[in-house]
This record gives sequence, C-alpha cells and structure tokens, in this order.
Amino acid sequence: MSKDLSFIHRFEPGNRLEAPPLLLLHGTGGDENDLLPLGEAIAPGAPLLSVRGQVLEHGMPRFFRRLAEGVFDEDDVRRRANELADFVVAARSRYGLAAPIALGYSNGANIAAAVLLLRPDVLAGAILLRAMVPLRQAPTPDLAGKPVLIASGNSDPIIPRDNSARLATMLQQAGAEVQHPTLPVGHQLSQADLTLAKTWVQGLRHISIQRDPAKPVAVSGDEPGNRHVIVSDVGLNHQ
Ligand code: MLT
Repeated sequence: MSKDLSFIHRFEPGNRLEAPPLLLLHGTGGDENDLLPLGEAIAPGAPLLSVRGQVLEHGMPRFFRRLAEGVFDEDDVRRRANELADFVVAARSRYGLAAPIALGYSNGANIAAAVLLLRPDVLAGAILLRAMVPLRQAPTPDLAGKPVLIASGNSDPIIPRDNSARLATMLQQAGAEVQHPTLPVGHQLSQADLTLAKTWVQGLRHISIQRDPAKPVAVSGDEPGNRHVIVSDVGLNHQ
C-alpha cells in the first residue's frame, strides 16, 4: 500500500511491457486490494495501478458522494473525477506508465465514466462493469477511437437498463468504440464478466502504448502463469 501521490494505491508493475496498464477502481466498500486478482486474470502480466476511493460512506470507501442509491452529488463527481485524473497523470510519471485502461466496477465504473467525460486524455479506454451515467450535464469530450466495454446485468436491481444504454450512447456520440453487452446476471461480478473482459482486452491490438518517458517501468520476476489468481475474491460482496 502506498499513500503518496495523493490516493492510497497499489502498483503492480507486471512483466509485460507491451501490455496496456489497467487502472483498477473498486466498488462501494472495496479498496485497492479488491480488483487486483481480476486485473491479473483479465490482463496477465500487465501493469496494474489500483486505487482506493477517498470518500467514506458509513466507513465504506467510494470515489464520490451520493445523495441516495443512484443519485449522485454531481459537483462532487466533477471534483473527484478531476482529482483522480490528476493522480493518474502523476502516477504515470512516477511509474513510467502508458495511459491506462480503466477497469471499474459499480462506483468505480461510474468514476471511470466521469473521467472519460471530463478528462478524456487521461484514459486509453475503459472496461465499465455495471456502470451508469455519472453526470446528467456533461461536456461532449473527444473520445475518438477509444475502446470502451460496458458490461451490464439484465437483472441488476441498482442500474436501470435505459440508464446504462444512455451512457453507451453518450460515449458513442463522443466517438468512443463502445461495446455494450448485457449479461444474464445481477449487480455482482461473475465469471462471465471476467471472460468477456479478457477477450475484449485480447482484441485491443490497435492500442498504441506510449509510456511516460520520465521513468522506465520496473519489471517483476513473476511469470504471469505463476501468479495466484483467485477469481472468487473479486470484490463480489461490494457494490
Ligand atoms: C454508485 O453510487 O456509484 C452506484 O449507485 C453504484 C454503487 O456504488 O452502488
């Protein structure tokens, strides 16, 4: 756990320099440890930057304030999305990283969507698991060619179908290459999310990796195949 760079985070350098880094953003009540197994399973050997949200809701970390379930404090969304974007810029320089692909779940997917809308240059793309529209009034960013996967659940009690469809349309209209499959699941993550996201990442051949030249990436000695990945630990109890 590292507390510098303004957000508590964990950085796993991985051992595949050519792989786009993943920015891992947990759901409500999670932390920076939650999505590491999922990130490793989806993109073995890729650098992983995993961040803890700075808002506490009854002691549970989140990435922005909400007024009720699905009702967001949009001023706070804007402020926190910009703070997270600034952190990513600083972390890229510290760790010598290319622009990351966000991998967010629930509240983490919503802040990733807000960063796409408000600071489009910060992310190379995004995997948004159970995401909804984070801002009713948002600028139309230039997301030309950025790949975005939105995975919704067809029995998700938290996110209405038309809401995630609206998010897909917003991002598409900004130029992103959006895929928006609906899985036969609820709000919780499932094996189907892992399989879907892994296949999507493997298809990202066209993403060009431009590292921050300031620092080389440290390479860990692990072979990806040797890593112990526990899929059932993937923050399944968090929203
Ligand atoms: C949110 O607050 O971002 C969404 O309602 C998802 C959640 O965290 O429950």
